[in-house]
Amino acid sequence: MDLKLRAVPQEVYGVMELNEHFNFQWNPDPASSLIGLGTSYVLEFFEFYGEKIGDYYDEFIEGAPQKDERFALFVTQEKRHAAAHRKLNNFITKGITPPVREQYHPRVYDFLYGAYKELAEPIIGGIEREKFAGKKSDGAFFKEAVRSIGIFESQVCMTGLSFFDNLFDNGRFDVVTKMSGNLGVLYLLGYHYTEEMEHCCISIEAFETIYQEKLWTRELVDKHIHNRDLLASQVLLSTLHVAKMLNQDLTVEQIINSVGYQYRERMAKKYIVEGFNAREPEILARRKALVERWDNEWEPMLLDKIKQRIRAGTMS
Ligand SMILES: [Fe+2]
Ligand SMILES: [Fe+2]
Repeated sequence: MDLKLRAVPQEVYGVMELNEHFNFQWNPDPASSLIGLGTSYVLEFFEFYGEKIGDYYDEFIEGAPQKDERFALFVTQEKRHAAAHRKLNNFITKGITPPVREQYHPRVYDFLYGAYKELAEPIIGGIEREKFAGKKSDGAFFKEAVRSIGIFESQVCMTGLSFFDNLFDNGRFDVVTKMSGNLGVLYLLGYHYTEEMEHCCISIEAFETIYQEKLWTRELVDKHIHNRDLLASQVLLSTLHVAKMLNQDLTVEQIINSVGYQYRERMAKKYIVEGFNAREPEILARRKALVERWDNEWEPMLLDKIKQRIRAGTMS
């Protein structure tokens, strides 16, 4: 599957905060809407982290067959996702302390400081120390970093599949776009998960090519899929913070029992098993079909609806 760099049209941000009003219910289900927005912050955080790891990949991995030429394009897609989510996140976070630059990350919100301390700082700090000692891809921290990107991409792949299953596919596109109170957010997530569908196998393959071992071992599946891992915890915490910023009362139970959360979890348990690489025939066919439908069908229709709403000057 070729990787494309899609641009997000200005109208998407225009409709996102139409008449200075941000409607958080981009999805017919309010709890799933808030989870999508909480996830938006986590995605921004991890994508900046991924960009940094991409720089080390460029520096440490030289020449074929180890160097995967698609890796740079994958990182470029991620950089653009981070920039797009940053715009959305700014709409919601107007009233709170802006994110700050830390030593190893350019934008850390207070509620993501834990993720910074638990993941970004130790791993990037470790890579820096190993680099000083002359290590490259043979450093343990760099290996851990590439692994963490593969884990993240596998998880996001499951989120993407759930997104399309629940909101666009199976004849849902018309109903959901009619009910959505914020087509800008719906578009942004559709665009983002389409590109995730395109590139989700690349970092897994990069790990397996460099280290000649499977990324998803049984232990890793157990740690990340059958238990709540760092990513899932951060999604939960960020969702609670987003709900608070938007003055919405939301419990942990409502998050966990929501349609979006439950469906995604079932998908992850079904597909992410030992040896998972996002290229299993069923997954690959699904990924290809979704990218095609977004580009040829859903994206043009959604953009059209957005333009209509801007003309009418109202979100619904
Ligand atoms: Fe992304
Ligand atoms: Fe990604």
